[in-house]
Amino acid sequence: MQTTFRARHGRPCPRRAVGPARLHRRALRLSFRGVPADLPTLRVESLAKHYAAGGHTVHAVAGVSLDVAAGEFVSVQGPSGCGKSTLLLAAGGLLRPDAGTVRVAGADLYALSTDARAAHRARLVGFVFQRFHLVPYLSVLDNVLAPSLGTFVPDAPARARALVERFGLADRARHRPSELSTGERQRTALARALLPGPKLLLADEPTGNLDAENARVVLGALRAFAQGGGAVLLVTHDPEAAAYATRTVRMRHGRVVDEAAAEP
Ligand SMILES: Nc1ncnc2c1ncn2[C@@H]1O[C@H](COP(=O)(O)OP(=O)(O)O)[C@@H](O)[C@H]1O
Ligand SMILES: [Mg+2]
Repeated sequence: MQTTFRARHGRPCPRRAVGPARLHRRALRLSFRGVPADLPTLRVESLAKHYAAGGHTVHAVAGVSLDVAAGEFVSVQGPSGCGKSTLLLAAGGLLRPDAGTVRVAGADLYALSTDARAAHRARLVGFVFQRFHLVPYLSVLDNVLAPSLGTFVPDAPARARALVERFGLADRARHRPSELSTGERQRTALARALLPGPKLLLADEPTGNLDAENARVVLGALRAFAQGGGAVLLVTHDPEAAAYATRTVRMRHGRVVDEAAAEP
């Protein structure tokens, strides 16, 4: 398969078609460059995204700027419909904004080609969603291993087994998602998100379908990830989740309305 890269200036560059090996080398170079010392892991600047719906325009995110540094656990709180999921998807490179920029580990995500953005995301960003998004026909272990199909993960099988153990899923490793409790499904999704050793975790209402005990496991794992030098952005309308965050940002109608640092 041949892949066409855009030149650095954003123009298509059809003569520079590269094969998979070269694409992989480029992805690795980009991924292992690390985060420039003067930049946070995630920098969102003046982000805006609107949707055209039923003849009118919804300004889902209307100019949000937000940094999440290594070691920070930032929760974004706000009522349903205030733009949290839109912000998170744009921050993770999954939804192109209308205006503003998103930098992850220094790279301007939407200035990258589609392939380079996917490679950068696969290596550096883990996602956890309310509805888990597991692959239904794969076992727990194979779901956890799935990111290693898209990016190089050293010792992936051993890492996957260790994560399965860590999240109390060893006796469920061969089960499919339909055979799991919701807590087990979310723990599987969390293990999957952590497999490549990302620098940034993005979580969208990850405790929305969970009982209190499993919610604590998930939030505790996000906190541990930040304490180990990762960056966490959690969007939720659950005020209890904020207790785990080092900083809370509140949103209303697509804008940040106030910020509060957690009690030490
Ligand atoms: N794909 C879409 N098309 C049209 N409107 C959308 C779409 N996604 C979200 N919206 C609207 O954008 C606003 C923000 O949505 P969302 O980011 O999902 O908020 P939250 O996650 O805080 O509930 C809401 O008014 C929602 O109805
Ligand atoms: Mg949402």
